[in-house]
Amino acid sequence: MFHNTEMKIDPWSSTTYQDYKRLRDEFGIEEFSEYSWKDLPNPHKLLRRGVVFGHRGFQQISKAVKSKKTWAILTGLMPSGKMHLGHKMVIDEVIYYQSIGADIHIAVADIEAYATRGYTMEETKEYALKEYIPNYIALGLKPEKCRIYFQSKCEDVKDLAYLLGKKINWSQMQATYGFNGQTNMTHIFSPLIQTGDILHVQLKKYGGSKPTLVPVGVDQDPHIRLSRDVSQSYRLYNVTKTKDNKIGVFVKPDENVKKLLDEAEKALKKLKFKKLKRITDYKAIYVEDATEKDIEKIDEEFINIEVKQGGYGFYPPAATFHRFITGLTGEKMSSSKPESAIFLSDSPKDASKKIMHAKTGGAVTLEEQKKHGGKPDECVVYELFLYHLLDDDKELMEIYNSCKKGKQMCGQCKKYASELIEKMLLDLQEKRKKAEKNIKKYLD
Ligand code: TRP
Ligand code: SF4
Repeated sequence: MFHNTEMKIDPWSSTTYQDYKRLRDEFGIEEFSEYSWKDLPNPHKLLRRGVVFGHRGFQQISKAVKSKKTWAILTGLMPSGKMHLGHKMVIDEVIYYQSIGADIHIAVADIEAYATRGYTMEETKEYALKEYIPNYIALGLKPEKCRIYFQSKCEDVKDLAYLLGKKINWSQMQATYGFNGQTNMTHIFSPLIQTGDILHVQLKKYGGSKPTLVPVGVDQDPHIRLSRDVSQSYRLYNVTKTKDNKIGVFVKPDENVKKLLDEAEKALKKLKFKKLKRITDYKAIYVEDATEKDIEKIDEEFINIEVKQGGYGFYPPAATFHRFITGLTGEKMSSSKPESAIFLSDSPKDASKKIMHAKTGGAVTLEEQKKHGGKPDECVVYELFLYHLLDDDKELMEIYNSCKKGKQMCGQCKKYASELIEKMLLDLQEKRKKAEKNIKKYLD
């Protein structure tokens, strides 16, 4: 119908995405609805309010939270330019997940920034140490169970990038990223580095196989798909429902089939399945007393035995995707347009001025607005309340309603937003001073 233009997600372009539902439908991203977050302890406002709008495989994370199993967060920061409110969202999410028990790993994407943004390695280091990490700490990231590392300094990440690349071919990279003959090799390689980032936390040295969540903006989805694909192509077993509705365990590699089947049989018996039918020629064991509901449980057990057999035993990494915050001018919030962005290092005065000039959803005249109301859904000031400035859902709702009813005018509304932002920035300024002394506690 209207969907005839091809949608593409490009991690390195400056596209703004408008239609998140369509994005979800077209790329098979699942909806992050109330069902996704309602069982989490004190769900964060970005989760409750639909700012996080989509996910892949989040069920595995909620299960780990519920059963108090170990799980990890891995995300990355691009050490280029100054940190603004758009960058703040990921770390807000990370801090929340830390508060509910996740192990935190944060990659400083220095190789990627060097490859795709033209910074020197010294500059990327400077941005990470002077800008991003102090802000992360000031925002509330704790040093316990938290590790920040540089891509260029982590051997495990780089090794994995090389090794996992074996199961990805050039056609796939071209199709996914639009790379061509002019793309530089470090850039071509950077999605593999990111795959290394995402999967290395499941290596033995970092605590072994575990559910891992990657909270990101939706522009990162191609990397997520790549990492999920790769994680599965390295599995030694495939547990699945067959065409004739049986539950089967299949060995994937061609070597060691007998040994792998023996191990599988042992594991299945341990799980108390009794009707096992082994067909070595098919490299399969049919579990006749299992149902579809057992697949997950069996698969989890097999992840464990895979590691003992020399495999990686990766859980497919889960991801959540958040919307992008609109810039104050109505376009994308971008470091290269200072008037569009509120930087965490802006002086409270400057930030407040930017808000007073922001594009609102107000009507042309006051009379009009009193009569017909404003449009909070098209208002960047409202977005600031929604994403960053108000924790209380009730207060947010009141602002929304009184705007719509024309009871609240933009002048007073912007004034309130700028008071709140001034407070937030002052507080951050204070905390950043102390943070700089503590950076070492976080670094790998
Ligand atoms: N590519 C990400 C960005 O542009 C940064 C990044 C690097 C990352 N490694 C990661 C994000 C791993 C999530 C997970 O911002
Ligand atoms: Fe936006 Fe507030 Fe104006 Fe409504 S009253 S359009 S929320 S600035």
